[in-house]
This record gives sequence, structure tokens and C-alpha cells, in this order.
Amino acid sequence: MIRISPSILAADFSKLGAEAARKQACGAEMLHLDVMDGVFVPNLSFGAPIIRAIRPYSTADFDVHLMICDPIRYIDDFAAAGADSITFHIEAVDDPQAVIDSIHKAGCRAAISIKPATPVETVYPYLPQLDMVLIMTVEPGFGGQAFMPEMLEKIRALRSECTKRGLNTDIEVDGGIGKANIGDVAAAGANVFVAGSAVFRSSDAQKTIAKLRRLAQENEVL
Ligand code: DX5
Ligand code: ZN
Repeated sequence: MIRISPSILAADFSKLGAEAARKQACGAEMLHLDVMDGVFVPNLSFGAPIIRAIRPYSTADFDVHLMICDPIRYIDDFAAAGADSITFHIEAVDDPQAVIDSIHKAGCRAAISIKPATPVETVYPYLPQLDMVLIMTVEPGFGGQAFMPEMLEKIRALRSECTKRGLNTDIEVDGGIGKANIGDVAAAGANVFVAGSAVFRSSDAQKTIAKLRRLAQENEVL
């Protein structure tokens, strides 16, 4: 199923609750929450207390993307704050299986993310336990960057590996996604689309979300 996940990183931080509510009203079934620690990525954003504060404003699926070192220390905090799915970076951990188990134990869906330079095969050993894989289509750390078309090949390889194993794992993409590329990304096999600038910088978010969804659906491979 195609899902659109607007990234709150591109929102007006002085009114995050209203921004979250508005994006759901505009048709987004997910809300992407980018947590950055200034160490794993060269930027700081927000943590569990902010997510907890936004939670009452939206019933959308809270899609928490942890760009932090040692994520296992904070899984329970993010689950308690209202995360529905928790994504961690494979580059940030020594024992991915332990993090997946901790996410599931906390009652959330588990996802691994890979940076552009990380081969997609690194997630293959964990596929049966994962609800989603997030393929970064920019270097993590900042919104508003240009989509990296070289990542399409990784998406294709991952979709084909999942199909081969009879898994219908969600494949999420994050970074520079917009009208110009969402069709190609869907055709490669992704089905969950993070969109920061494309949605928050648009004058009509409802129209933009509907358009992104339509372009993705027209090219969906599932
Ligand atoms: C980047 C973040 C993204 C970012 C996407 O590290 O993970 O979620 O907000 O923003 P756009 O869609 O503007 O590239
Ligand atoms: Zn993200």
C-alpha cells in the first residue's frame, strides 16, 4: 500500500501540534519525525519529549526516524512518547538484532535505515524480522537536499529480494522526494514516501499530497 509521510523537519517548529494536525487533515496517513543527535549526523533536531507533545494533535502513524548513536538506549522513551514505527540506522549499531527485538518488545514496528554509501545487502540478514526498510536518498542530516537517482538500483534490488523471499516488507524512501521523481521511485519498488520540502513548502499541501499519492499509485509495483 502506498503511504505518504510528511517530514515535520520542514515544518514551522513554533507550532508543531497544528502542523501535525494539518498534514493529517491534508490526507497524510503518516508523520515522519526526524531525530538527530549532532553526532551520527551533523545536525540536531528534537527528541522524545517533542514527539510526546505532538502526539495528541494527530492520529496518523508516527514514523520515527532515529539518526542517533546507540539507539537502543532510547527505544522505550520513543515508544512511550507515541511512536508507531521506529527506524534506526544500521551504521549506528553493533547488534542490529538486539535493537529490532527491543523495538518489537516496546510494541512498535521496526525498521532499519541505510545511508547512501551502505550496500543494501547489509539489511538482508534481518529482512524476516523487519517491518520496513528505509533507503536514504540523500545523506541524512538535513532537509531540502537533491534526490540521488543512484539509489533507485538499491530499491530495485531490495524489492526483488523481498519478493524472492515472499516478504511484502515496506520500503520507505527519504530525501528529495517530490513530483519529479516519486513515479520512478515507486516503479523501483518503494511504497512509503517521506516528503519534507515537497509538502511543507507547497502552497496547497492537500493538493500536493494527493498528487504525490496518485503518481506513486500509477507506478506501484506491489
Ligand atoms: C534528512 C531527513 C529527511 C528530511 C527530508 O536527514 O531524514 O526526513 O526531512 O526532507 P526533504 O523531503 O526536504 O528532502
Ligand atoms: Zn527522515
